[in-house]
Amino acid sequence: MSEVLGPSQDTQPLIEEIPSRLDEQHTITTETLGFLIHPNIPIPPRSSGGTGSPNLKIADIGTGTAIWLLDVAKTLSATTTPTTTTCHLTGYDISASAFPPPQTLPPNVSLRTHDMRVPFPDAELGTYDLVAVRFVSSASTRREWARAVTNIAALLKPGVGWLQWIDSCNFALYNSVPGTSRGACREIYDGVQSAFVPARGGDEGDEVVIGLMMREAGDVRREEVFRDAGLVDVHEDVFSTDRLQEPELELREKGTRNIIVCFLGCLEGLVGVEGSGWTSERIARVKQDAMREVDQGVYHTLDQVCIVGRRAT
Ligand SMILES: C[S@@+](CC[C@H](N)C(=O)[O-])C[C@H]1O[C@@H](n2cnc3c(N)ncnc32)[C@H](O)[C@@H]1O
Repeated sequence: MSEVLGPSQDTQPLIEEIPSRLDEQHTITTETLGFLIHPNIPIPPRSSGGTGSPNLKIADIGTGTAIWLLDVAKTLSATTTPTTTTCHLTGYDISASAFPPPQTLPPNVSLRTHDMRVPFPDAELGTYDLVAVRFVSSASTRREWARAVTNIAALLKPGVGWLQWIDSCNFALYNSVPGTSRGACREIYDGVQSAFVPARGGDEGDEVVIGLMMREAGDVRREEVFRDAGLVDVHEDVFSTDRLQEPELELREKGTRNIIVCFLGCLEGLVGVEGSGWTSERIARVKQDAMREVDQGVYHTLDQVCIVGRRAT
């Protein structure tokens, strides 16, 4: 799900995402969750008092290929009246490498580079009705995550703007046929986890609270991070990737192969890193073995954590 930017993101290499993998992940996720925008979020927004046409502004942080934003643009153009609602959609990402060519974008969609760990430009602050973030955290500590949430919450219109944050946690691997191996899938996941999860420091701010590589033993109180950033009406849902059971959708197998490709991309970033133990040959071997395990029914689950909150003032 998430591109694995390590705990010390300043020193870890940026992983090149495969755009087709991100787009497939979007299809699987949207199918699993059943929404692009959480139903608690009113779209079009309740007016903050103005009487004119709503000028709906939406941002997607860590937008990747902008697939979520483009899907939202399509949905809104089908459900809102163009004469009464103007929608502006902006995607931000630390890297432009997965952006589609600008000439392919609708006129109301624009993409920019920005690192969410840094405050957004003043002109953007307080101007968005909805800001969404999806699959950007690999293993964020409470302190790092709170900094990003605070920067992003500042983009929201006071009183009416909503933040929606979706990230995966709690990876687990399962057999569906007795006696089959899941060793190669395990080796891949463990390789990524040991390289990218921060060592637990002594204080509460060092606790990992969100991200693909985290496993939570108990309640890590993510909603408090939202409230501390000035958000109200905070609500967290946790969906399992196993939520839908329709075999014809093949979500289980497609999702498992998709995440393995994601992890392999992360491991490729470790080839040549001293002491990592990862070589191109080892990656080719585990990839082949892991895909065979999936052929034999091995699959994963993840918790899809979706947290929403509205900016109070
Ligand atoms: C796994 S991709 C998800 C893309 C998209 N959100 C989606 O769901 O399809 C993670 C994206 O987050 C971006 N990203 C990672 N860290 C970021 C940061 N600190 N600020 C902004 N974008 C970031 C990456 O460059 C990458 O495009």
